[in-house]
Amino acid sequence: MSQQSLPGLWMAGPLAPDLVARIEPQYQIHRGWEIKDVPAYLREHGAGIRGIATSGRFGARRDLIESLPALEAIISYGVGYDPIDIDAARERGVVVSNTPGVLDACVADTALALLLSVSRRICEADRYVRGGHWPLKGNFALGHSMKGKRCGIVGLGGIGLQIASRAEAFGMTISYHNRRARNDVPARYDYAASVPDLARDSDYLVLAIPGGNATKHLVNAEVLQALGADGYLINVARGTVVDEQALIQALQAGTIAGAGLDVFEHEPEVPAALRELDQVVLLPHIGSGTHETRQAMADLFIENLHAWFGEKRLVTQVV
Ligand code: DGY
Repeated sequence: MSQQSLPGLWMAGPLAPDLVARIEPQYQIHRGWEIKDVPAYLREHGAGIRGIATSGRFGARRDLIESLPALEAIISYGVGYDPIDIDAARERGVVVSNTPGVLDACVADTALALLLSVSRRICEADRYVRGGHWPLKGNFALGHSMKGKRCGIVGLGGIGLQIASRAEAFGMTISYHNRRARNDVPARYDYAASVPDLARDSDYLVLAIPGGNATKHLVNAEVLQALGADGYLINVARGTVVDEQALIQALQAGTIAGAGLDVFEHEPEVPAALRELDQVVLLPHIGSGTHETRQAMADLFIENLHAWFGEKRLVTQVV
């Protein structure tokens, strides 16, 4: 088959090279991020572009969706799809898929790694040793035990449930907030009707909900105040869920104990004020960052892509 007769795929950003190598023989890939004059390029090639290959990082904006007349499907790598304009896709009758489920355990591991790190001051202690400061002086690097503490999960979905079972293994009790209480989760999990109520009762407030307008700044000054001076915030969801300025103020004032963050409001920008604080652990959005999980995500991404362009169906459809 000539390159021209293959389905055209607009790639919104550099996806993993091994993933790209696996799909390259069957699709004509247009590397969007390398193109200088996008409107001129699309005038020439747009008619053959039937899919957008993207991720929760690169998204797909309305102007792109509307400028591809032959667009049928947006295939996304990752579970979060907040930077994809779902309304624009729906209006155009364009289907969207993501890669849910396969990364739940891995993101939950990341949440617990952050929780343990801030609670036991692992990174601070590591910096101490690297600075040649051993033996310890006084109470330096004494942290807090997990046993007997309450883990409050905002968003008890696939990832949230895996966070809950891991936290229980460390001797913690579980509370959660969803829009509605779930009747298919263990009865010992306490439901909180609001995020401030959940924060008030939690030692660790762990965020595992989708991003987007509906959850923007759900964790604000009021919630942080409710979490209190002994409380920790863990975010493996989206940076936009937290009012980052309010978080910085709470950390600086000591009105919360610390934070473990895998995501940031304007990532990859991480505010200098956060980087200066000892009681935070900062990760570069690596919630799903293991070889095994990225492989499973790539497999599911490719399954969706082939299913659409082969049989006009999706395996894990968003809309
Ligand atoms: C996703 O896939 O949306 C998550 O950000 C993984 O960390």
